[in-house]
Amino acid sequence: MGCRVKKKLIAGNWKMNGSLAANDALVKALVAGMAASTCHVALCVPSVYLAQCQALMAGTAIDLGAQDLSQHEAGAFTGEISGAMLKEFGVRYCIVGHSERRQYHGETDALVAAKTQRALASGITPIVCVGETLAEREAGKTEEVVKRQLAAVIHANGHCISEIVVAYEPVWAIGTGKTATTEQAQQVHAVLRAQLKAATNQADRIHILYGGSMNAANAAQLLAQPDIDGGLVGGASLKAPDFLSIIASAP
Ligand code: 13P
Repeated sequence: MGCRVKKKLIAGNWKMNGSLAANDALVKALVAGMAASTCHVALCVPSVYLAQCQALMAGTAIDLGAQDLSQHEAGAFTGEISGAMLKEFGVRYCIVGHSERRQYHGETDALVAAKTQRALASGITPIVCVGETLAEREAGKTEEVVKRQLAAVIHANGHCISEIVVAYEPVWAIGTGKTATTEQAQQVHAVLRAQLKAATNQADRIHILYGGSMNAANAAQLLAQPDIDGGLVGGASLKAPDFLSIIASAP
């Protein structure tokens, strides 16, 4: 048994929510409530609020995250935001390949792999999302889908793969109130861990987060699974008491 003790990572994904006033209240409530916490905490905020959140989180235990970045370094890409720009605002993590971007913005496995490369080249830890739809699960294709999604990222990133965070987010569990059972989640996490182990001898260091209707009531059980190293939390990260209780349940 090697030393598998690593701190959990609880990351909030605000998605397209927030306002200057709401962000101020939320971050201040989190900072006030999590003094004794021992896990890593990050908030992935809409890019327009990075400057505000950087200031609010300065000197606190919360790390700043973004929700997407361009695969390009710079140039004529109207509306896009580069890794270097995110880095200037103190961004430590960036979600890449969230299912909402795969679904609504046509992001392919190849694009997600390129964005992962760009994040790493910018000194930002990508939180690479994988997950199957309900139809794929019902067709018995869960493993095939998540392995294909992760394989693209592994192949494009070589030995840097140990620097990424992976988030398993079953699409059918996102925002639906339907959480994967602890067994379903652990089973997929174990598959992803084995795939990472085949690519790097550092796979035990890699955080594999679960996302999809994680809340104050189910977090402790999910986070107790051997291959669940944290959570990527949507809706419940917008309410300070709920997010604090998820943080508190991270062993
Ligand atoms: P919910 O927690 O709202 O289901 O969202 C999960 C998610 O997509 C986090 O990235």
